[in-house]
Amino acid sequence: MDCAVKIVDGIHWVGANDRETDLFENMWPLPKGVAYNSYLVQGQKTALIDTIKTVSGPPFLLKVRELLGGRKLDYLVVNHVEPDHSGILNVVREVFPGVEILGNKKTAEFLLHLHQVKDGLRVVADGETLDLGGHTLGFHLVPMVHWPETMATFEHEHGVLFSCDAFGAFGALDGGLFDDEIDVDAAEGEMLRYYANIVGRYSVMVQKALQKLAGLPVRIIAPSHGPVWRRDPAKVIERYRRWSHWEAEPGVALCYASMYGNVRKMMEAVAEGLMAGGERRLAVHDVSRAHLSFMLRDAWRYQVVLLGSPAYDTLLHPLMAHLVDLFERKGLKNRLLGVFGSYGWSGGGVRALEEFAGRSGWELIAPPVEARFQPTGEVLEACRALGRAAAARLRAQTGPLTH
Ligand code: FEO
Repeated sequence: MDCAVKIVDGIHWVGANDRETDLFENMWPLPKGVAYNSYLVQGQKTALIDTIKTVSGPPFLLKVRELLGGRKLDYLVVNHVEPDHSGILNVVREVFPGVEILGNKKTAEFLLHLHQVKDGLRVVADGETLDLGGHTLGFHLVPMVHWPETMATFEHEHGVLFSCDAFGAFGALDGGLFDDEIDVDAAEGEMLRYYANIVGRYSVMVQKALQKLAGLPVRIIAPSHGPVWRRDPAKVIERYRRWSHWEAEPGVALCYASMYGNVRKMMEAVAEGLMAGGERRLAVHDVSRAHLSFMLRDAWRYQVVLLGSPAYDTLLHPLMAHLVDLFERKGLKNRLLGVFGSYGWSGGGVRALEEFAGRSGWELIAPPVEARFQPTGEVLEACRALGRAAAARLRAQTGPLTH
């Protein structure tokens, strides 16, 4: 989507799609690209809310200039300094001379070191408002969502919350900006992947931010990535409340590592047990093929996480170790866990998964299952029992599936 899009009178989306960058933060895959959202607010005075990464700079500037129609850009609100939102900040300053940057004390500190901004910046206080004439902007600090300087800007007259990373999603905008004109199910998956991988570690701060913003009469949520949410903003806020409290949906994330197919066979038996137990909501991932970001997303989504790994170098398989490390780094809590795996001449894999259970506080729902080299019929039956146990725990809490 290259064109400017009107959100309400006097407010336009002027962001950019990025379909060339493969890895967000040079780490997280972008199979559907990503959008950097920026918004132009025009009253008697004009303000740009955030900018974009350096990619697509010229079309972005053209859009802003065309909408301004020769008017001056008075303010640039920096909700977040991370380069995906401030990448072309100095270009904006050059193209729109005299533009005043608005940010908080931390914003000033970060901009000095990241973009060498030494002047032209006004520090705003938490809760301060700015009357543009027809549009009043309120600035609300939401630290650690997702950097210490992050703030959300609220436009009072139309109830538009420029929420920055909060409520954002991976994925470019495929011709539609609003949630009521796109495939929201696909967007929700990429929203959760963004949350789990980028914001999730700071879930306690997200809870605080949601409490802080709760009094605002939000009618439209305009984040810095992905769709603009206008159909039912309360539902979107509730989604964030659940994710930030590590509340899960019924279902299973089943992630496994396998070198010679033995743990894979065990995984197949676990999956058979799940299906036999009536559980249909299952996401299976091979850690050697799927990217960790998708596994973290599904672990954040589902109540049960089942992990299978062989021993490797007398330790956990390195890629499974990476996944477990990611779970711990991101602070995912309150999951039900099942573990299984194999060893040949030394153990280590399953033992490491049990140690992870102890550290994470996740509840082990069944005894670990371990095979020596090839899983025997008995071991495979134990794997099926693990799957049935997981299904039973989910059924106990939610009742049988009706579809
Ligand atoms: Fe979208 Fe924290 O940057």
